[in-house]
Amino acid sequence: MNEKTDDIILAFESSADETSAAVVKNGNTILSNVVATQIASHQRFGGIVPEVASRHHLEWINRVTEEALTKAGINDPERQLSAVAATYGPGLVGSLLVGLMAGKTFAMVHHLPFIAVNHLAGHISAANFVKATVYPALAIMVSGGHTELLWMEKENTFQIIGTTLDDAAGEAFDKVGRILGLKYPAGKEIQEMAGHGKALIKFPIAHTEDDFDFSFSGLKSSVLNYVHHHEQVSEEFNRNDVAASFQKAVVEAITEKSRLAIEKFQPKQLLLGGGVAANLALRTAFENLSKEYKIELTEAPIKLSGDNAAMIGAAAYLNYKQRLFAPLDLNVDPSLNFARM
Ligand code: KG4
Ligand code: ZN
Repeated sequence: MNEKTDDIILAFESSADETSAAVVKNGNTILSNVVATQIASHQRFGGIVPEVASRHHLEWINRVTEEALTKAGINDPERQLSAVAATYGPGLVGSLLVGLMAGKTFAMVHHLPFIAVNHLAGHISAANFVKATVYPALAIMVSGGHTELLWMEKENTFQIIGTTLDDAAGEAFDKVGRILGLKYPAGKEIQEMAGHGKALIKFPIAHTEDDFDFSFSGLKSSVLNYVHHHEQVSEEFNRNDVAASFQKAVVEAITEKSRLAIEKFQPKQLLLGGGVAANLALRTAFENLSKEYKIELTEAPIKLSGDNAAMIGAAAYLNYKQRLFAPLDLNVDPSLNFARM
């Protein structure tokens, strides 16, 4: 029955506020990638409301699945697909459950193997749509929920060498956005404001005990103090300068820790992924770092930096090659992560 020359995977992602289904060929070609975002529903609360998120996932999951299959020309899943994959963690329990159940059910009905994917591996695998990775690689995973420096000795292996001790990079963008009166999620808008401002304000970059760890909550507090102080004494300040100065501090924190990791571990390749990887200042800083150390850099395409199922399909393919299938009684793991090196 398995006369397939290509391995096509149907993938699901529902860990936070995007309901997504995608069809990916050989881990590096997108046949379809349908993403339904719920951002508008959560904006008035200033962040994701878990119960609202899971209800939206339930409403959308069938529609995005049908659209992804139709767009990819899949009308006989059992014959055309090699496997079905879904994110099983980390993320919101009720949200993860929807995509995982959809994936397991689809796999069972169509007699296909099921692959469970770590959302963070998904973000890193978005780089595979650009080009194949050379190992060992250093991956920088910066999203709304995570900030990780990961060592990849070989394909599909991930060890944490640095992580955030408090807020994630994207979370810091979103919290500073709130201070500046912006809508959630604020990363892109802060980037735009920063483009009109000057990084004149010295916000502190936290020094952590471990060389490769991050801390962003002190930075967020100093932005808050700066804004409050100016408001209290009715002193005018330039919001674009605040955005530019904050963005510069985050970019420096991430690149400086990465620089230390490059020097210690000597990777052959750098990978940049996660929602914050869409940030142009961060991309430029990594492009410079790549030139400086003569290490090739692969950045997740901007369109695939945020949550989407195509990246889950790319990560699933790495498991597929190793025949790493998951049982259909697998549960979600909301706090799933990699081990520390
Ligand atoms: O990876 P993602 O879509 O969701 C999680 O897995 O967390 O990341 C979302 C995060 C949000 O915090 C958002 O503000 C941030 O990515 N983000 C950005 C930019 N675009 C999205 N942060 C900085 N600059 C951007 N251009
Ligand atoms: Zn994500």
